[in-house]
Amino acid sequence: MKFFVDTADTGEISELAETGLLDGVTTNPSLIHKAGRDFMEVTREICGLVRGPVSAEVVALDHEGMMREAEVLRKIADNVCIKVPLTIDGLKTCKKLTGDGTMVNVTLCFSANQALLAAKAGATFISPFVGRHDDVGFDGMHLIEDIRLIYDNYAFETEVLVASIRHPIHVLQSAKIGADVATMPPAVIRNLFKHPLTDKGIEGFLADWAKTGQSI
Ligand code: G3P
Repeated sequence: MKFFVDTADTGEISELAETGLLDGVTTNPSLIHKAGRDFMEVTREICGLVRGPVSAEVVALDHEGMMREAEVLRKIADNVCIKVPLTIDGLKTCKKLTGDGTMVNVTLCFSANQALLAAKAGATFISPFVGRHDDVGFDGMHLIEDIRLIYDNYAFETEVLVASIRHPIHVLQSAKIGADVATMPPAVIRNLFKHPLTDKGIEGFLADWAKTGQSI
């Protein structure tokens, strides 16, 4: 499973990229606002920090406007992936862009039928939002299971990119279901490394090693 980080904070991105485990980045207008930086400038910088896809979202709602914005965004770097909302105009834009060889991430997916439409439109990635599903009392992971099943039934190549991840259990469940990508806030990625018994184990080994009086 690929690991993407869901942030526009370049400090966090470069730190996580150093682990060698980061496969891409996703941003959205809210994350750009949070970063407090110029959209074009920060996106260009992020594209230089990772080799994999960097999702940059259009804000126009009509097909022509989305195409105009995508033209600007795709010139930033070869690894830009245009993010479009799951609407009729968004999917029209997706079909056109992927037909031209541009990567497209279809976002704000909340149903398996929407994911089916995105795959038919040739999306590179579909982004179902699990956390926001959980927030309103549905189990977001059921959506991932349904999408996986449907995509496998028809051998769609669209990658299932689990978005709106809130905690490590979402990541574990995504991996068990066979999602292609998980995009996570930096804190969730860091939490994946942690286990209290790992810390306790290191502590014990180091204490015993000190008693040997040796060095490596
Ligand atoms: O980038 C889309 C996504 O991951 C949003 O997450 O936490 O705002 O629901 P959240």
